Amino acid sequence: MKALILVGGFGTRLRPLTLSVPKPLVDFANKPMILHQIEALKAIGVTEVVLAINYQPEVMLNFLKDFEAKLEIKITCSQETEPLGTAGPLALARDKLIDDSGEPFFVLNSDVISEYPLKAMIEFHKSHGGEASIMVTKVDEPSKYGVVMMEESTGQVERFVEKPKIFVGNKINAGIYLLNPSVLDRIELRPTSIEKEVFPKIASEKKLYAMVLPGFWMDIGQPRDYITGLRLYLDSLRKKSSPKLASGAHIIGNVLVDETAKIGDGCLIGPDVAIGPGCVVESGVRLSRCTVMRGVRIKKHACISSSIIGWHSTVGQWARVENMTILGEDVHVGDEVYSNGGVVLPHKEIKSSILKPEIVM
Ligand code: GDD
Repeated sequence: MKALILVGGFGTRLRPLTLSVPKPLVDFANKPMILHQIEALKAIGVTEVVLAINYQPEVMLNFLKDFEAKLEIKITCSQETEPLGTAGPLALARDKLIDDSGEPFFVLNSDVISEYPLKAMIEFHKSHGGEASIMVTKVDEPSKYGVVMMEESTGQVERFVEKPKIFVGNKINAGIYLLNPSVLDRIELRPTSIEKEVFPKIASEKKLYAMVLPGFWMDIGQPRDYITGLRLYLDSLRKKSSPKLASGAHIIGNVLVDETAKIGDGCLIGPDVAIGPGCVVESGVRLSRCTVMRGVRIKKHACISSSIIGWHSTVGQWARVENMTILGEDVHVGDEVYSNGGVVLPHKEIKSSILKPEIVM
């Protein structure tokens, strides 16, 4: 079975992290976002993943080479010379997606995180006999997504409306599809949108079916949602009694600590924290609702909440970092500095406090 991941876009909403790596390689819960997806695909028997990409394919491929071997899965790129939207890349990768088996293939948006119930999706797809299956989930603010109106008992989609201006429903497209090869006959090789041009047409022919996604879901393409997504992800690990979660007197709630990270005495960590490989958290540090990426050093008695600390940065002693502060790669925050929502570009040194949310270039 094959899968295609849509890896386009420049990830501007996750800057400054995406100034260092393409968005799918930004770490989430201690591993690049895209690895969560590739591992889930591998687990249900996908043998080849095509990355539909319109920039920096060599960065992605170099990075994923190790995982290709480790996971025993083939990873290839289909590169666009111009952005082809969310459907055009499928036409471009047509030859890679179709083989003699006639099997359906998965398509995933690259910035969604969930428990990926892909096995259940295959069963669902087989059961309805339509041409395409999509996962849907309920959200409070549907207007920024593709909204799906469906027949509850069968899942048959009556209408698909991308980013509706007026409220039409709260079940939205979760960005996870299982498509028959015949869907490719509907897509021309040009910039085109699967949400605006393909799904509405299949729905009008009553061949599009939606399955309500069990468990959590989040589009983690912007910092606030990324932090919420981490809470939901860690919560799902807790529900599964995952041994990956840290425990001990210094841990509150759900926390991931990479085994190579060092935690000093008298720290208080959690809830909803991920500490990556090689991090050093000195004594007396307080961390909550935050991500601390690979190679970061947090000095004594610093306090970090609701923030993302990019790779190889340092936070000085007694510093206070909060309110959606996002430090890019290799940022150094001085001792006793306060950051209230600072968004700091890579390789900067912050010597004085950032008193209100602003971009530090
Ligand atoms: N290869 C390629 N080329 N990929 C692209 C391109 C392109 O030109 N444009 C967008 N993509 C990829 C993005 O990287 C992302 O993985 C996916 O296609 C969706 O595109 P976005 O532009 O991020 O769409 P969105 O987040 O506003 O909305 C989409 O996702 C929602 C769920 O999060 C839609 O699919 C909505 O219907 C959906 O509800």
